Amino acid sequence: MSDNRPIGVFDSGVGGLMFVKEIKRLLPNESIIYFGDTKNLPYGDKSNEDITKFSVSITQFLKNNNCKAILIACNSATASALKEIKKIAGKDIIVIDVISPVAEKISFELREKIGVIATKTTVKSGAYKKAIRKRNKHINVIELATPLLVPVIEEGFVNTPISKVVLETYLYNKKLEGIDSLILGCTHYTHLEREINQLFNKKVNIVNSPLIVVNHIIYMLSKNGKLASKDAKSEYLFYISYTTDSIVKTTKRLFGKDIQLIEKSLED
Ligand code: DGL
Repeated sequence: MSDNRPIGVFDSGVGGLMFVKEIKRLLPNESIIYFGDTKNLPYGDKSNEDITKFSVSITQFLKNNNCKAILIACNSATASALKEIKKIAGKDIIVIDVISPVAEKISFELREKIGVIATKTTVKSGAYKKAIRKRNKHINVIELATPLLVPVIEEGFVNTPISKVVLETYLYNKKLEGIDSLILGCTHYTHLEREINQLFNKKVNIVNSPLIVVNHIIYMLSKNGKLASKDAKSEYLFYISYTTDSIVKTTKRLFGKDIQLIEKSLED
């Protein structure tokens, strides 16, 4: 059994693109419809109600576009709106989030103290701590809000003195002393992975969320007979709610300069 319909992926901006890249690498026959809600960025400082409203509209859009599965490539949306998203998606669409597969994987590893850096919304929800400690209560989970990182990334300051000073200010924090692993609990932060690794002198295991999540997608699609056929030719469609330099540049850098981005308002 196979299913060549697209996988829908959404985030507030460039964060989810790193997950699309991993889908492309491991599932080259799958088509993708991406929605980057750049108009409402950042999600991480908004109320649960606002994030839920945006996430529900995007889910409806992806459903109208015949997606077989939806990846919520945004921790803040997962933490605030998972139930509502699943309700709108309905039983026939597989909904995958970015928190539970990571919590599941890490709970089975030999870890003692895990740091999680994330947006204010995600930290306030305690989503990682709850998800990990529900599975393994011997792991100490330290959550830290690092909200300035999203604008640093969206404004194109990755790998610059600005990202360095913001990262150092946040991460040289007593609370994180002694961690053996760090979860990048905001999909945007995957763009800073190399810098974070350097900052910890490669002594801390940076959890590879895109790989874990995409392996979970593979499992869910194959379990439900919904993987694309081996001869399917993949197509990529990128929608954004507002055109910014950063999303155009990052999308083209990751997927080739011929990629087109389509501006689409959530209000239509
Ligand atoms: N990338 C998103 C997340 O994982 C949201 C970042 C933001 O818009 O604040 O939380």
